[in-house]
Amino acid sequence: MKYDFDKIINRKGTESVKYDLAEKLFGNGGVLPMWVADMDFEVADFIIEALSERIKHSVFGYTYRPDRFFEIIASWINRRHGWEISPDSIGFSPGIVPALNMCVLEFTDPGDRVVVQPPVYFPFFSAITNHGRELVYNQLNQRDGYYEIDIDSLEATFKEGAKLFFFCNPHNPVGRVWNRKELEKVADLCIRYNVLVVSDEIHSDLILGDHRHIPLASLGKEIADLTLTCMAPSKTFNLAGLYTSMVIATNPELKERYEKVLDAVHVGGDNILGQVALEAAYTHGDDWLDQLLVYLESNYQLLCRKLNSSVPEIVISPLEATYLVWLDFSFMGRSDKELNRFIIDKAGLGLNNGPMFGPGGELHQRLNIATPSKVVEEGVGRLIRAIEEWR
Ligand SMILES: Cc1ncc(COP(=O)(O)O)c(C=O)c1O
Repeated sequence: MKYDFDKIINRKGTESVKYDLAEKLFGNGGVLPMWVADMDFEVADFIIEALSERIKHSVFGYTYRPDRFFEIIASWINRRHGWEISPDSIGFSPGIVPALNMCVLEFTDPGDRVVVQPPVYFPFFSAITNHGRELVYNQLNQRDGYYEIDIDSLEATFKEGAKLFFFCNPHNPVGRVWNRKELEKVADLCIRYNVLVVSDEIHSDLILGDHRHIPLASLGKEIADLTLTCMAPSKTFNLAGLYTSMVIATNPELKERYEKVLDAVHVGGDNILGQVALEAAYTHGDDWLDQLLVYLESNYQLLCRKLNSSVPEIVISPLEATYLVWLDFSFMGRSDKELNRFIIDKAGLGLNNGPMFGPGGELHQRLNIATPSKVVEEGVGRLIRAIEEWR
């Protein structure tokens, strides 16, 4: 392996949300933080070199994104996902959550219904309710921790008059990569009921095993005409603090309307370091990413081995993508509040509490394994010891 994912980097004292806010958020500064979705790995050397070169120039005035920026993104998406798009269909966003909010503002009116599929990344909810739109749930079905889309009830929500659908693919926190059949069913419904889709594909590069990411909009022109696709190098290359992401719309009308709202709130300016990092990542990042995926898979296997042999009652959702493992603790027979305190105080872990992901999140916790395997071992060890003491 050329890249060293085992290296432990002290992130404390860097104003890291994950590390330096632990005391404030968990009421216990001693927790091992395995929650917010960033990685503990060093950013790849070719990105650091590109950033260092730019920093050496020593002037950081206003800049713009050159055509090259969009060409590099289009080439990455084609290489990694086989989706051929024109650079003109790519818009900028300072982040995916801002993009979700802007899409709600531009493509819906107050009171309109927007559908989400919980348990799901929780800022989906506030992006709807913060602007006075109606949040409509289409809860995922699950059996033994394996989640599927409830297509019949999705159709029912569309029939009742949905304006927009927030789709999450791959799905955080349940780890599914929706397959072609599932995507086709979703696309058919969106087309039949003329529902616009914001497809959040921020985790699309982080695909494990034999799974393959298929962008929803790549299925055909009819669904592409209804879709805005969100992608970013932030999760893939650990660049979340650089606030540089994309919204892709191959339908020129959607693209124009997206750019209009981006201009209206004036957040479309160039973040020079984000731009440089993205270009380096998407130009030189294939090998690094392939090695990262092998490492994440082995961390996931490590976690499964340890938990299955010591606490097989914890249901681990199969991790097809992302580095966020979804764990079901309902066997403990505790309330959500008790479970959460147990995880913090007895296990000494800072995880994401399931209920924050909406209906279906009860008695679950989300655990981030994008960290050196020694840390995964430590975290899983803490969990096992706490449960053995409780038994
Ligand atoms: C599905 C999903 N969308 C968006 C984000 C965050 O996007 P950003 O930091 O670009 O706003 C996350 C972060 O975990 C996520 O999981």
